[in-house]
Amino acid sequence: MTYSRVIGTGSYLPEKVLTNHDLENMVDTSDEWIRSRTGIVQRHIAAANETASDLALHASREAMKAAGVTAGEIDLIIVATTTPDMIFPSTACILQDKLGVRGCPAFDVQAVCSGFIYALATADMFIRSGRCRGALVVGTEIYSRILDWNDRSTCVLFGDGAGAVVLTKSARPGILSSHLHADGSHKNILSAPGNICDGKIQGRPFVMMEGNTVFKFAVKVLEEAVLEAVAENNLQISDIDWLIPHQANIRIIISTAKKLGLPMEKVVVTLDRHGNTSAASIPLALDTALRDGRIRPGQHVLLEGVGGGFTWGAVLIRW
Ligand code: ACO
Repeated sequence: MTYSRVIGTGSYLPEKVLTNHDLENMVDTSDEWIRSRTGIVQRHIAAANETASDLALHASREAMKAAGVTAGEIDLIIVATTTPDMIFPSTACILQDKLGVRGCPAFDVQAVCSGFIYALATADMFIRSGRCRGALVVGTEIYSRILDWNDRSTCVLFGDGAGAVVLTKSARPGILSSHLHADGSHKNILSAPGNICDGKIQGRPFVMMEGNTVFKFAVKVLEEAVLEAVAENNLQISDIDWLIPHQANIRIIISTAKKLGLPMEKVVVTLDRHGNTSAASIPLALDTALRDGRIRPGQHVLLEGVGGGFTWGAVLIRW
C-alpha cells in the first residue's frame, strides 16, 4: 500500500498582536464577553504590506526545514485560503514563485475554515495515486482584511496566520483516511457576500454569519466527522490520542469533545492566542502540538474542520 505521511510542519503568525483589551477601544465589547463566549484572548494581525502568500512562505520554509527537504523536492503545492493575494493567479502559484521552483502543479482550495482539511485530503489522494511524491500543503489567511471592524459580532472572532505541512510518499501510514462533506444549502449562514464587477465591489465583502446557527451546525457535523473517521478505521473514540479541531470557538470545541466523550486533555487548543484563523487554524494547532512534544510517533491524531459553505471534514493520521 502507498500512504502519505506528514514529515514536517511549520507556522507563522504576523508580528502585531491585537488583544481583547485593544478591541475594547475599537468597538462596544469587553475582554470578559470575548473570553467567556469564544475563549479568545488575542489574535495576530498582518502588516499592511503582508499578503497571504507572504505568511504562507514563512510557514512553508519552516515546514520544509523540519522535514529536511528543499523546495525542489516538492512536486505539488496546494494552498487553502479564503483571502488570496488577488483574484488570480492563485496564491499557490505566487507561493511557488516565492519558493523559487517551477513546473509542479500548484493550486488553491477554497473551502473556508475546512480548507486545510480539503487540501490535505487532496494531496493525500495525489500521493496515494502515485501522481506525486512530496507535497506542500498550506493554510494561510488574512481575515483582518474581510472583517467589518465596526461589527462587534464578527470582528472579535478572527485572526491572521499560516500553517504548513510537508507530505511524502510512504509504505506505512500516515494518513489513514479522509472524509469530506459539503451542503451548499447553508450558503447564506456564513458568508462574505461580495464580488468584483467592472472593477467595482458588488455586495458586502465582509464576514457575515448567523452565530447561533453556525454554532449548532458545527457541533453536529464535527461529531459526525469524527465518528465517521473512527468507524472507517475500526477504532474507538478512546483510540484517539489527539483531536485537533478547527479553532473557531472554545464552546464549540468543548461541546464536540463532550458529545464524543473525549477528555479536553486530548484536545489541542490554540484559539486563545490565535483567534479563528480559518484555513490556517488546524495546521497552526498541529505545528504547536508537534513542537511542544505532545504528539508522539504511533499516536492517532484526528484533524477536523467546519466552515462556510457549509463544508466539513476530518483527516485521521497515525503519527
Ligand atoms: N461584545 C459584546 N457583546 C456582543 C458582542 C461582542 N463582541 N457580540 C455580540 N454581542 C451581544 C449581542 O449584540 C447580543 O446582545 P443583545 O442580547 O443585547 O441583543 C448578545 O451579545 C448575545 O448575542 P449572541 O449572538 O446571542 O451571542 P452568543 O452567545 O450566541 O455568542 C457567538 C455569539 C460567540 C458568535 C456565538 O454565536 C458563536 O460562538 N457562534 C459560533 C460561530 C463562530 O464561532 N464563528 C466563527 C466562524 S465560523 C467557523 O469558523 C466555522
